[in-house]
Amino acid sequence: MHDETAHTLKPGPDDPVLVGAAAALRDGALVAFPTETVYGLGADARNGLAVARIFETKGRPSFNPLIVHVMDREMAGQYVTMTREAMVLADTFWPGPLTLVLPAREGNGTSSLVSAGLDTLAVRVPAHPVAQALLRAADCPIAAPSANRSGRISPTRAEHVRAEFGDTVPIILDGGASDVGLESTIVDLSGSEPFLLRPGGISKEALEAALGEELVAPERLVSEIPTAPGQLASHYAPAASVRLNAGAVDVGEGLLGFGSKLPDTSGPVVNLSAHGDLREAAANLFDGLRMLDAAGVSCIAVMPIPLAGIGVAINDRLQRAAAPRN
Ligand code: TXA
Ligand code: MG
Repeated sequence: MHDETAHTLKPGPDDPVLVGAAAALRDGALVAFPTETVYGLGADARNGLAVARIFETKGRPSFNPLIVHVMDREMAGQYVTMTREAMVLADTFWPGPLTLVLPAREGNGTSSLVSAGLDTLAVRVPAHPVAQALLRAADCPIAAPSANRSGRISPTRAEHVRAEFGDTVPIILDGGASDVGLESTIVDLSGSEPFLLRPGGISKEALEAALGEELVAPERLVSEIPTAPGQLASHYAPAASVRLNAGAVDVGEGLLGFGSKLPDTSGPVVNLSAHGDLREAAANLFDGLRMLDAAGVSCIAVMPIPLAGIGVAINDRLQRAAAPRN
């Protein structure tokens, strides 16, 4: 149930609530905010202490760099070198669920904690109106990872953020359920050829069509060597264990279904999309995992999800949710 606390704020566009949140952010506070992918835990990227608080709050290893959220392509250009390919992808997909890793501009003013000491920076222009309004009001680059404890399920609703952090994150902007529901696609353009670091809301095919060239992608969805520094094998983990490509449900399991024909079970069921729609399934994925956890099952059986379009990103997240935990 949604616990309506004093600090879970539902701002309309150009709301004075945003002005308050933006001022707190500029003062070094953390502000959780909605994006079209997942909710982010934001700090002024120029403020090292505020950025350090993100790592502390999430329990995130400090070698795992953060994405810098900016208002537009021009603002991105203050922090990174926008290559020709970056311009093409930015024109096609920004604002939207695409993050670009690019050479950092020297003396760009962001804290070295943001990039974990790398000479590249990840930048993204979010499409959610509340994220855009917050960026406009704060007028600073916002470093933001997903607003969940490190390794756990990403939040797609304000109440997920409240459940993760309780009162440690006093300001949570509520912008409703995230439409995409999975994190942004990350493309590394800092090397000699474009490399897909993380599948996400924008498919590899759509990126290749815009670029007019092929993207190099990891051989397997979950590699032993993390591609993006944060792509550790076990991630997005619910409390329950996760069993993939399930054709039947065992006693004590919850079912994460897909499509119109579900196996019989007397346990709890969440159907990601009764019509077999992959976009709808992506939007429901993290919420569905949380619902089955809340039902108290020891294992979540997941039906097969087609490996096409955003289905690639769904399978990536599910494989990490099912990966052995340390
Ligand atoms: O959709 C999203 O991208 C969300 C929303 C809030 O924008 N953010 C998000 O952040 O998913 P996070 O921290 O959960 O994931 C960021 C990923 C990590 O895997 C990190 O290692 C990678 O981006 N990353 C950040 N900077 C990088 C860099 N310079 N080079 C390579 N990977 C980088
Ligand atoms: Mg994350």
